[in-house]
Amino acid sequence: MNFKNRMKSLACLSLVAGGLWAQNVCVSTPNTSLLLSAPAGGELRILYYGEKLAEADLKTYEGDRGMDAAYPVYGLTCITETALAVTHADGNLTTEMVVDQVATSDDDTSTKTVVRLKDKVYPFYVNVCYRAYHDVDIIEAWTEITNGEKKPVVLTQFASAYLPIRRGEVWLSHLHGSWANEGQLVQEPLTPGMKVIQNKDGARNSHTDHAEVMFSLDGQPRENAGRVIGAALCYGGNYKLRVETHDGDYHQFFAGINEDNSAYRLEKDETFVTPALALTYSDEGLSGASRNFHRWGREYKLANGDKLRKILLNSWEGVYFDINQEGMDQMMADIAAMGGELFVMDDGWFGGKYQRNKDNSSLGDWVVDKRKLPEGIEGLLADAKKHGIKFGIWIEPEMTNTVSELYEKHPDWILKAPQRDPVLGRGGTQLVLDLANPEVQDFVFGVVDDLMTRYPEIDYIKWDANMPISNHGSQYLPADKQSHMYIEYHRGFAKVCDRIRAKYPDLTIQACASGGGRANWGILPWFDEFWVSDNTDALQRIYMQWGTSYFFPAIAMASHISAAPNHQTFRTIPLKYRIDVAMSGRLGMEIQPKNMTGEEKKLCKKAIAEYKTIRPVVQQGDIYRLLSPYDKLGLASLMYVAPAKDKAVFYWWKTEHFVNQHLPRVPMAGLNPDKLYRVHELNRIDNEPLAFEGKVFSGAYLMANGLEIPYNHKVDYHKQNDYSSRVLYLEAVE
Ligand code: GLA
Repeated sequence: MNFKNRMKSLACLSLVAGGLWAQNVCVSTPNTSLLLSAPAGGELRILYYGEKLAEADLKTYEGDRGMDAAYPVYGLTCITETALAVTHADGNLTTEMVVDQVATSDDDTSTKTVVRLKDKVYPFYVNVCYRAYHDVDIIEAWTEITNGEKKPVVLTQFASAYLPIRRGEVWLSHLHGSWANEGQLVQEPLTPGMKVIQNKDGARNSHTDHAEVMFSLDGQPRENAGRVIGAALCYGGNYKLRVETHDGDYHQFFAGINEDNSAYRLEKDETFVTPALALTYSDEGLSGASRNFHRWGREYKLANGDKLRKILLNSWEGVYFDINQEGMDQMMADIAAMGGELFVMDDGWFGGKYQRNKDNSSLGDWVVDKRKLPEGIEGLLADAKKHGIKFGIWIEPEMTNTVSELYEKHPDWILKAPQRDPVLGRGGTQLVLDLANPEVQDFVFGVVDDLMTRYPEIDYIKWDANMPISNHGSQYLPADKQSHMYIEYHRGFAKVCDRIRAKYPDLTIQACASGGGRANWGILPWFDEFWVSDNTDALQRIYMQWGTSYFFPAIAMASHISAAPNHQTFRTIPLKYRIDVAMSGRLGMEIQPKNMTGEEKKLCKKAIAEYKTIRPVVQQGDIYRLLSPYDKLGLASLMYVAPAKDKAVFYWWKTEHFVNQHLPRVPMAGLNPDKLYRVHELNRIDNEPLAFEGKVFSGAYLMANGLEIPYNHKVDYHKQNDYSSRVLYLEAVE
């Protein structure tokens, strides 16, 4: 935090502590303030959220023009949306909360503010909590709901947080999609009525809509200008985001667990803790809000967010289920020869009584299939060692198949409605295990623990989840708690993941869920990265990775070079372009190297070596999205800048190809205007260097003008094609 900001935040705290504005509570980060009015015995209201308030602003702030209740409850406010709705023990459907007390506490990285609310009549309490980080502009908001009544109460609505957003020309940016087309950016103005973004998958939650949004407050969203509020719900299960535009001056934004079919019976003295909603504000446009999420994510959320990721080859698109010792050894030799650092064996390696040759059996039977791998995992680890790389393995521990020894032994471990046949998933046989059941939790923990105990050299786990919860019914939960199933599933999941991380903090774990089904900040504290999509087509990936980068940093976005024609789109994209797209995320390969030519392997080897140079900038740097593929201007461009602004990587991908077309020249962003940068092209395939290769430009020039990038590659005639892309490395010179 710089000195100015430190002074501002001290000022903000002392106002509260000094009692001058005893009823106002200011929650602040280096550049933002959230101001609450918390009069004892009165209503908790939000007065302000946005750019940091100076002391003078705080003093003169017109508290009376406060926006709204900070946590609207149902009962005496019936006509608009609410955050909380409760059926009290005596059947009363109304709630009226007033401020009881305010407490703040500090740790090394954040300040926590807890406003305790109490119902005016019932012993029913809600802690409205905010965690403000000291070095990044994120405030996490959540609630703790406690039943002090004599009997259970029922929560029918229990949002994590509420935020009023001043009407004007507010636009919403959010992600939408489907399997193999995740993370598509949608931008729309907020209009009267209700916008609901939700998920009901049960187990995963980001194939379709995402639990994160951005609000551009100054009209049409811009990447590098304009005020933006960003919000990310940190939850891996069903969620609901609501924006109601009623007759007031504010859009009303609510975020939390999806309460549909999830009414929660809160026992006497039980506390229900809602997941956090991470809020950010930036006046540097959408990219500014993304940078805040990324910094916070890397520093405080993502597992091992401070460690660079290895360059890997994953076996899936190379061999699918055709796993055998020789094939794995060959792939390991190939990736090692290209400079890769890790090999991951995907699906198909396990099964005892039932062999896993297709997707319709054996999940749960996590024993090595010796028919395929006679020397077992030991043999593969020895191979990896021989090639000087690390070894990783695929599992799908939350699931089973009707065709499995696990299911034969424990039919009571699956989620299933009473009296009904289970609805089956992938392969016509897949089922989801009941993570509400502690025995199942032990089993799922054991899948990882057994592997790691037996083979401590395993460096990486790809944790998959290929089925939604299609059956409402826990065979473990009692009849009156069946509506807790979705919530208990994720509590069970959290318990398992906590145990895994307590024992194996350094293990790299990928969250995969039929591709990008688990891109959310709820699960990433246990996972190092996620698989963005089962679609590895470089052109479509530009769109998916662009959207996903709104909320998630490149270090977490697994992005692999795959075969041509692509296995999902059947598009034939030249290797150079596939490399240039994959290199904008956590680089890996998803291909059979045996089928690559010598020249292709050479190009990949060079790219891997060059990626190692830029890896810290890509994985730890700040993103500046420059030209959106969604703008349909024929190209897309973004860059990453090292925090010290001494290094940057610029990406330029042509998305359309026409003769005599006119593409815009792309001004850069995020550089130091006073620094001089030398430009060097990476992954060059052209016969001649670019006109500006090795030349030096000021940051000011690059940000005002950008560089004139040739539309096509100068390569031999037979190598010409309809794709072109550039990756430029910028290094500051003294
Ligand atoms: C899912 C994953 C893929 C692959 C397969 C294996 O579809 O997304 O990457 O691991 O499962 O069955």
